[in-house]
Amino acid sequence: KNIVLLGAPVEEGAGRLGCAMGPAALRLAGIQPALEKLGHKVEDRGNLTPEDMAGFSLPGLARHAALIGGWTRTLERAAYEALKEGRLPVFLGGDHSLSMGTVAGAVRHAEEQGRKLFVLWMDAHADFNTPATSPSGNMHGMSVAFFCGADGFSGILPDDRPAVAPEHVFMCGIRSVDADERAELAKAGVNVFDMRFIDENGIVAAMKRIIETVKRAGGLLHLSFDTDFLDPDIAPGTGTTVRGGGTYREAHVAMEMLYDSGLVTSLDIVELNPFLDDRGKSAYLLVELMGSLFGQKIF
Ligand code: ARG
Ligand code: MN
Ligand code: MN
Ligand code: MN
Repeated sequence: KNIVLLGAPVEEGAGRLGCAMGPAALRLAGIQPALEKLGHKVEDRGNLTPEDMAGFSLPGLARHAALIGGWTRTLERAAYEALKEGRLPVFLGGDHSLSMGTVAGAVRHAEEQGRKLFVLWMDAHADFNTPATSPSGNMHGMSVAFFCGADGFSGILPDDRPAVAPEHVFMCGIRSVDADERAELAKAGVNVFDMRFIDENGIVAAMKRIIETVKRAGGLLHLSFDTDFLDPDIAPGTGTTVRGGGTYREAHVAMEMLYDSGLVTSLDIVELNPFLDDRGKSAYLLVELMGSLFGQKIF
């Protein structure tokens, strides 16, 4: 694979600061050599910077909307351009608001190719709030609503809102959803493999269904991996931990199945907060998981 690493040190979408150090921590944990060792060509393009949208705001509760809007515009273009060049962009986050831009850019590219974009959202949270429903105003909790075309975000992108069909979004590992957010999520028809599903059926069953659906549709797949998908015992370095998370082995087998599928065309690694980590433990685990996603074999 022809991989480009793009740092997105945005942290104002989260309730506590520190995710801006995420790209540095992932680099220090060795993400580039880990992927090169698997035979990939990896170009690190350094960190991006947000466009200036000073003065912009959204009605309702959306903290730092101008800054997140600026990042969205930058990341939309970066994702679109990398994909158009035939690269596989890996966005090093940064909080989860960055996916507003990366997914928007990936949809623009997919539409040009006449292909459908699917999104796999591995997360403890649904991130389906809007400025009207969010209890916190933190925009990292709004990304999926944004790229599914929900109301309340107009002006963030200059032209039309991006629109990923909610039925092309798969959530995996969900275990913390706000009340109004749950109602919107159900109404929209997003595919949710929550922790109850995983407990009852196993993560392999969830991944099989997701992979089969994308394959049948001939779709492209954007993976958005939130550090808090993982159990806090193995990945403490993130700001919104929820107990009962994905285990080491669940996470690895999911990544191995995605590698075998060959479907992933773009990727976000988000919500790593090195300030909260334990001696690089979470950063090292994320790099190890990226190894499985890009072809590391046990045997
Ligand atoms: N649902 C909560 C909120 O809207 C938490 C969102 C956490 N999101 C994340 N990307 N870690 O504030
Ligand atoms: Mn702030
Ligand atoms: Mn998230
Ligand atoms: Mn989360």
